[in-house]
Amino acid sequence: MLSDLTDNSAPSASRTTDTFGRPLRDLRISLTDRCNFRCTYCMPRHLFGSEHLFLPRAALLDFDEIERLARLAAGLGVSKLRLTGGEPLLRRELDVLIGRLAALDGIDDICLTTNGSLLTGKRARELKAAGVNRVTLSLDAIDDDVFKAINDVGFPASKVLNAIDNAKAAGLGPVKVNCVIQRGVNEHQILPMVEQFRHSDVVLRFIEFMDVGTSNGWRMEEVVTAREIVDTVRTRHAISRLPATTPGETANRWTFDDGAGEVGIIASVSQPFCGGCTRARLSAIGELYTCLFGVHGRDIRGPMRAGATDAELSDLLAGIWQRRDDRYSEIRGEQTAERQGDADGRVEMSYIGG
Ligand code: GTP
Ligand code: 5AD
Ligand code: SF4
Ligand code: SF4
Repeated sequence: MLSDLTDNSAPSASRTTDTFGRPLRDLRISLTDRCNFRCTYCMPRHLFGSEHLFLPRAALLDFDEIERLARLAAGLGVSKLRLTGGEPLLRRELDVLIGRLAALDGIDDICLTTNGSLLTGKRARELKAAGVNRVTLSLDAIDDDVFKAINDVGFPASKVLNAIDNAKAAGLGPVKVNCVIQRGVNEHQILPMVEQFRHSDVVLRFIEFMDVGTSNGWRMEEVVTAREIVDTVRTRHAISRLPATTPGETANRWTFDDGAGEVGIIASVSQPFCGGCTRARLSAIGELYTCLFGVHGRDIRGPMRAGATDAELSDLLAGIWQRRDDRYSEIRGEQTAERQGDADGRVEMSYIGG
C-alpha cells in the first residue's frame, strides 16, 4: 500500500506533486556514466570491459544545461541536489559546476555520492569551498581482499578510509558510508563495518542488494534483509529504532544503546519506501527518470537543444512529475517473493546514479 505523504513544508506557490500527492523535492543528477571501479554488482567487468561504449562527451549535458535544469527544478520545489555518476569526481572542473548550483535560489543542500578513490584532502576542501555540504562514500567491506574482489580494480579499503578522513577534515559532514550487502559476498563484513564506524561521527548505512538494471544478475536469495542485518548487529550490540528525520528518508535509523552513534539500513527490497519518494533523476545526457527502476527516461536535452524556452522546459518537467505514478519497490514486494530478476531493460545504476 502506498502510504500517505503528509507534506509539512512551507506552502509554496510552485509546489509540484505527482498522482499520489508526492512533492518533487530532490533532484539526483548523474554527471557521467563512467567509473574507475568495476563493482561486481554494478558494472561487472564482462559487460563493462574495454569494448563497452560509454557516452560520448558531446552527448553529456554541459554545465550551462545542468545549471539551467537545476534552476527550473528549483522553481518546481526541488531544494536538494545530489550529484552522482558513475563516479562524479571523474567529471572535469566539477567545482565550477557546484559553485553555480550552490548559487541557485531555493537550493539548500548539495550532496555528492562517490567511491572516494579521487577524494584527496585538496579535492575535499575544494568541493567544500565550492558549495558541497555533505558527501556519501561507498565502502562494501573493511577486509581488503573482500573489498578488492568487489570493486574488481584492486582498490584497498584503507584508501577509502583515508578519503572519509579527508571529507571529515574538510567539513563535508556528516559523512555517510553506504555498504551494499550481498549474501555469499560480504555479509560477514557487517560486524567489522559496525566496529569500524561505531564511536565515529560517520553514519554507516547498510543497503539491501537491489534489482536495479539488467547487469547484476540479481536474485532474491542474495538479498540480506534489514531484519537479518539488525539481528546480526544485535549479536554484539543493543540497538533501538530512531524516528525518521525527514519524510521519505531512505534509511531506517538505529541508535547504539551505549551511545556509540547510529547505523542506518536502506531496506528498499524488504521495506519499500515509495510512499515518501520525492526523488527525480537526471541522466548524464538529460533524460528525466521518475523512478530508479525506470526503463525509459524522458528526453529533456532534445527540446532544450532545439531551443525550448524556460517556460516550456519548466512545463515539460512539471508535466512529467504530475503524471508520475511510480512505486516500483512496493509493486515488486506485492507481486511475489519468488521473482528472479526479470529485468526488462531497466536502466543501470551506473547510468542513473542510485
Ligand atoms: P541522504 O541525502 O543523506 O538522505 O541520502 P540518500 O539516502 O538520499 O542518498 P544516497 O545516495 O546516500 O542513497 C543511498 C542509496 O539508497 C542509493 O544509492 C540507493 O541505493 C538507495 N536509494 C536512494 N534513493 C532511492 C530511491 O528512491 N529508491 C530506491 N529503491 N532506492 C533508493
Ligand atoms: N543494490 C543496492 N545498492 C547499489 N548500489 C549500486 N548498485 C546497487 C544495487 N544493485 C549502491 C552503490 C553506491 C550507491 C550509489 O548505490 O554501492 O553506494
Ligand atoms: Fe561501484 Fe559506484 Fe562505480 Fe558502480 S558507480 S562501479 S557502485 S563505484
Ligand atoms: Fe522512488 Fe521508484 Fe525507489 Fe519507489 S522504487 S522509492 S518510486 S525511486
